[in-house]
Amino acid sequence: EESKNIVLTEDESLPQAKKTKIRHLEHLRGQRVFVSGWVHRLHSHEDSMVIVLRDGTGYLQCALSGKVAQTYAALTLTLESSVQLHGVLQVVPESKTAPGGHELSVDFWKVLGAAPGGDDALADKLNEKCDQSVLADMRHLVLRGETASAVLKLRAALLASARTSLVSHNLLEVTPQCLLQTQVEGGATHFELDYYGQRAFLTRSSQFYLETCLPSLGDVFCVQESFRVEQAHTRRHLSEYTHLEAELAFITFDDLMSHIETIICETIDRLLANPATAALIKQLSPDFTAPSRPFLRMPYIDAIQWLNAHGIQREAADADGNAILDAAGNTEMVAHAVGDDIGEAAERRMTDILGVPVFLHSFPAAMKAFYMKRLPAQDGAAHVLTESCDLLVPGVGEIAGGSMRMTGQEELLAALETQESVDVSSCYWFTDQRKYGTCEHGGYGVGVERFLAWVANRHTVRECSLYPRWPGRVTP
Ligand code: 4AD
Repeated sequence: EESKNIVLTEDESLPQAKKTKIRHLEHLRGQRVFVSGWVHRLHSHEDSMVIVLRDGTGYLQCALSGKVAQTYAALTLTLESSVQLHGVLQVVPESKTAPGGHELSVDFWKVLGAAPGGDDALADKLNEKCDQSVLADMRHLVLRGETASAVLKLRAALLASARTSLVSHNLLEVTPQCLLQTQVEGGATHFELDYYGQRAFLTRSSQFYLETCLPSLGDVFCVQESFRVEQAHTRRHLSEYTHLEAELAFITFDDLMSHIETIICETIDRLLANPATAALIKQLSPDFTAPSRPFLRMPYIDAIQWLNAHGIQREAADADGNAILDAAGNTEMVAHAVGDDIGEAAERRMTDILGVPVFLHSFPAAMKAFYMKRLPAQDGAAHVLTESCDLLVPGVGEIAGGSMRMTGQEELLAALETQESVDVSSCYWFTDQRKYGTCEHGGYGVGVERFLAWVANRHTVRECSLYPRWPGRVTP
């Protein structure tokens, strides 16, 4: 009853409060400030309360006592309400801990937008017992949590750091289109749409556009969403993911792998050198350390032997790719042979045993994209090999794939002809790159969510995307 009658007014005799974000508070200790944000945590005592405020830039402990803790708004305050808090920022005594080492002594405050309590309270809607699909539907609210928001903050820092590395190595950022007329790479895996009556597709890689940029812009990169129809319900496949791709001219295959290693390592080093991002990594992935260089390099043919030597088998499959079952109805397991794809499970076991990043390289042409540069055929060798590489890391598996590209127009046209889904004439802009002054070149694509899943030690790439898309999932 009494509390309803308390009306808070700001004491005009106090110094004017300075508007600030939580991140910038350190320099404002001892001063009167005001901060707006959301009630992240709330502890009420008899005649005082503590609010942990969240504004996206950090967390701030705020102490309310006396009149400010006894208003009706104070007694009915709920988590996730948005509030504005005014007061003097005090350093907390050494015996106490608080985010940033300081606390706001609130002398005036107001509710900006109350959040519901009771059954509709966020904490009740989202808890550990929630079904995965409920959590996916509630992603917009899950994002308010400490872990999900830390992952997204690290994601932003990782992208910025990667860009800095690429630019420092003289690559120029371009923003290629994601609506395409041609489905050059892997026909069945493109999303198709109606484009003013024409068939069009969503991109699954900007590689070909990047290749066309080399003669005018030099080495280039892009950060672009890629879309893939993947009937793969795995923890590392998304239907839409952020694809960081780069293309470099006048390089060798060895240069390409060294460059990928440099970009990955410099990106990580910069994150670890910055106290704010290092703290995010520590929070999410306490055991993460920068990988040592140089990365291991293992030819595909050696990798097959390595798998067999370590007893890592693959699932047997018939000509149509269907699993072969044994008498007991279990999938039959067989040794790997040259020409086999190294599946996700085998790849993961391999990286878990090695415990460090590894480039698998020189894959047989039959397993890889048509445009990859072929190595000269070895006498008696059963497989034509390519200058191709996949970068595998512990916990995730493949995070990057790249190759040197065919340079001859005739050779490329012949390879294009073998692609069933491709209308060769519509690829003139891609083959012209070889017609008008060809050059040795190569490039790669990094799955940003996979890179992040590695650094942030996430179980799945779904945690590394703002609103992850996977087969069937396009909400919210
Ligand atoms: O190996 P991919 O298919 O390579 C290309 O698309 C080349 N054209 C890239 C290039 O040379 N410019 O894909 C590259 C990377 C993979 O290593 C993986 O990290 C990621 O993209 N990736 C996916 N990430 C999440 N969900 C998916 N469905 C992905 N498919 C590929």
